[in-house]
Amino acid sequence: MKKVLFAAFESLPFIKTGGLADVVYALPKALDKNKYEVRVVLPLHKKIKEQYYDRLNYLDHIYVHSGYINEEANVYSCMNEGIEYLMIENDTFFNRDDVYGFNDDVVRFSFYNVAILEMMIKLDYYPDIIHSHDYHTAVLPALCRLRYNAIEAIRNIKHIFTIHNLVYQGIYDKQVLFDFLAFDYRYYENGTLRFNDQCNFMKIGIVTADIVTTVSETYAKEIQTPQFGNNLDMILQYRKDDLYGIVNGIDETLFNPATDNIYQNFTINNYLKGKEANKAAIQRELGLEEDKDALLIAMVSRLTFQKGAELLANCYSEMLNRHVQIIVLGTGESKYEYAFRIMENNNRGRAVFYCGYNEALAHSIYAGVDMLLMPSLFEPCGISQLIAMRYGTLPLVRETGGLKDTVEPYNWYTKAGRGFSFGPYSSWDMMQVFNIAYELYQNNKEHWHVLMRNAMKYDVSFAASARKYEELYDKLAC
Ligand code: GLC
Repeated sequence: MKKVLFAAFESLPFIKTGGLADVVYALPKALDKNKYEVRVVLPLHKKIKEQYYDRLNYLDHIYVHSGYINEEANVYSCMNEGIEYLMIENDTFFNRDDVYGFNDDVVRFSFYNVAILEMMIKLDYYPDIIHSHDYHTAVLPALCRLRYNAIEAIRNIKHIFTIHNLVYQGIYDKQVLFDFLAFDYRYYENGTLRFNDQCNFMKIGIVTADIVTTVSETYAKEIQTPQFGNNLDMILQYRKDDLYGIVNGIDETLFNPATDNIYQNFTINNYLKGKEANKAAIQRELGLEEDKDALLIAMVSRLTFQKGAELLANCYSEMLNRHVQIIVLGTGESKYEYAFRIMENNNRGRAVFYCGYNEALAHSIYAGVDMLLMPSLFEPCGISQLIAMRYGTLPLVRETGGLKDTVEPYNWYTKAGRGFSFGPYSSWDMMQVFNIAYELYQNNKEHWHVLMRNAMKYDVSFAASARKYEELYDKLAC
């Protein structure tokens, strides 16, 4: 039995700010339980404590001394769906209303990484593999190898580091390496921990882990180019033999139109009726005209530059000139929020903007709309398009990262495909494909229904990808 420890800053069902939480939740469940004993470590965020306090079992107490950091912490365990979650409690750093976005985030991340090692020592628990996720836990391999290396059991641990989004790297003053992580100066001097005379958590993870993965094959290639590399393309090229792209799946229990808490459950056997009922329900719920013939499209997304919100902001009025309705759900940069508020004001009954995030409403939208818009500028994997397909909703995406790998575009001749896609990042290109989709929806329902069935049949589970991670685990720890 191989012991694998997932280290992340967020995970469902406890807490979620982004797709990272979906993956850290779904992947451990999909791994072979007879071969891998997986645990997940998380900070005990305030929200988790409030909601799960009666399920936490106290395990131990640890001291965390690391440069100027002098803190104590408690370690709890919480079982959920057969997976053990270890949670590190420290009120100075984690008893806060939000997960990220504080001035002292770097101290919080540094504390957390060191606390994970102190926890392992205290519990006498040494995994064969640590699988860390994103920059928040990216310094774990370096800590194991360069600071805690006197302990053989720690020195021997193998490391996988998964990049969920290369844009967020954790770039800080170099003093962080000494003041909070207590590394020896020589590892800065020799370049291992240095990047542009600064400390860059992401870069440290990339050069010190045994294997680096990211969340789709296309993104793994893209990030080796200057256009997508965010200054780390050369470093990623240097690690290209150990860099793998493995596409994400979704949790099929959480996202299942047959059992989900939506207006009417459906499967591939009664999807037309199911979609029609859910479409009418979401139109009613959001104050749209109840109109089964309008092409109902949605964007469910953080409204940031990454997600291509500006492309929709540029051409929603052109879309609404046709027999179309639009739903936007999300929050983000205020310029996009304003654009969509204006859209709603000028098109009451045909366009609606829900400013905020609401998981239950998101599910009803996936179930009720005809098409999901995801014109991302870049997208490491993307999760919404996977959920959409499972609910018979056709994604319209830009061909980048995981969107390219999962949404096979419509082919008129073969009726293959499960969505629509365009290449260049421009509203004009998006509109060309939108028009094709619109014509198909209004005038060729037969093909549209084939695409819906293709989408629903497509395997969006984590099963196939879990096997690929298992291969990597086996390669590292035989
Ligand atoms: C990040 C990426 C997204 C990916 C998710 C999970 O949020 O932006 O594309 O699906 O991580 O890996």
